[in-house]
Amino acid sequence: MALPGTVGRSKSELVDDAVKYMWRHGTPITATTKAQGPIAVSGQGVHITDIDGNTYLDGLGGGSAAATIGYGQKEVADAVSEQLTRLHYASTRTFLNEPAIELARRIAEIAPGDLTTSFFTSSGSEAVETAAQIIKAYHKQKGQPGKTKVIYRKTGFHGVGITAASASGSPDYRDWFQPLIPGFIEVPTCYTYRRPEGQSVEDYAEACAQAIEDEILRQGPDTVAALFAESIPAGLILPPTQSYLKRLREICDRYDVIWLDDEVFIGFGRTGKYFGSEHYGVVPDIATASKGITGGYVPLGAAVVSQRMMDVIFGDGGAGQAKIHGHTYSGHAAACAAGIAVMDILARDGLVDNVARLGDKMLNAFSEFGADHPNVGDVRGKGFLIAIELVEDKETKKPFAASSGIGRGVVAAAMKENFLLRSARDVVAQSDGFEIGDIITLFPSFVATEAEVDQMIDITKRAITAACGQAS
Ligand SMILES: Cc1ncc(COP(=O)(O)O)c(C=O)c1O
Repeated sequence: MALPGTVGRSKSELVDDAVKYMWRHGTPITATTKAQGPIAVSGQGVHITDIDGNTYLDGLGGGSAAATIGYGQKEVADAVSEQLTRLHYASTRTFLNEPAIELARRIAEIAPGDLTTSFFTSSGSEAVETAAQIIKAYHKQKGQPGKTKVIYRKTGFHGVGITAASASGSPDYRDWFQPLIPGFIEVPTCYTYRRPEGQSVEDYAEACAQAIEDEILRQGPDTVAALFAESIPAGLILPPTQSYLKRLREICDRYDVIWLDDEVFIGFGRTGKYFGSEHYGVVPDIATASKGITGGYVPLGAAVVSQRMMDVIFGDGGAGQAKIHGHTYSGHAAACAAGIAVMDILARDGLVDNVARLGDKMLNAFSEFGADHPNVGDVRGKGFLIAIELVEDKETKKPFAASSGIGRGVVAAAMKENFLLRSARDVVAQSDGFEIGDIITLFPSFVATEAEVDQMIDITKRAITAACGQAS
């Protein structure tokens, strides 16, 4: 009899079946065979164990930042199980359900400013798609149907739908899926480390913001609906300056361009605050969230809409009825029950504060390490969202050649010590004219203890030194 969650087949049978029957994403399908797994079977805290009994220290929150409150949180499982047994499903088209109402209320409580109203989805991509539709409805309802274009930033990533792909910068997420939606316009990202030589950070940030305003004016403000911009872009981990986001807010206000703050990666605590925008004292018009809402226990996403947009969309008594359709699983009771349990745990265990405190510790430790290391060009991040950008030459900021495989070398060296981290170069292709070095990224679960964080710091430093040592 197989254990719950396992199917009682050997690892080699599972690997064969994976290659034959399962389209694994994020890697060529043949990589499953080459890598021989690993196949994850259990987890506790910040540790995940594979089918061979190897236990890994997870610096990636489950690989994609979703496992925010760590593995094995029984209270979440109990809340889901309880809800599934009592009422597993009732469409929110027909019935309201208690967990969905309560979770929406709790989100409004923690969300910044007047972000009051959650439209639930089952993923981040669906939340982005939903937000895009709500934005269109807002402009139509306001009598400005010509506002349909979307400004997005070069290194942004917003998910796998065609709307998201149209607003994502990397060719990896775009090129195969052309033609994309017309009227999506790319502008620069605020990537302060890679600013032009001699320019101050503030001047550079201002120029990046100005480029957005210029683009809106070039396109015609009455044609531009939205700016899709993560408050802290997570792909390459690029915290902007304080003034930059304030300027974006002003620009959006000036031209009635809706700022969609995509917080799918960072929302619900990853940066040491519930929402990334809070670090900058600005409030988006609409925010999307997903991973952190349920900590990866069950799929759930949300587009959280501001009251000012709601007032327009439903202002005349609902004649707009912006989005009458929804997903079969919008507001799924068990997913929302998980969300409530996760929010309870975040608050009870002070996990967002833990992220802020230990994130600072990590950032400081890597900054000190980087100051003395010839190949650490930049260390940046907020909370448990940390990037270490490696370069061949610190003076000129010249990246290592892609062929040197430095990033992969760091990941492999860490893996030898059973520690999981990521190299962003492997997942974000180089955009035209944009030098992207090997960016080592860490985004662990919020439950990491100080000792576990110390261990992550030590292994990362060793792995960087080993991989860079081999390259030189
Ligand atoms: C910023 C951002 N937006 C959207 C998405 C897409 O979310 P999902 O993978 O749940 O569809 C992601 C996923 O990583 C993301 O990081």
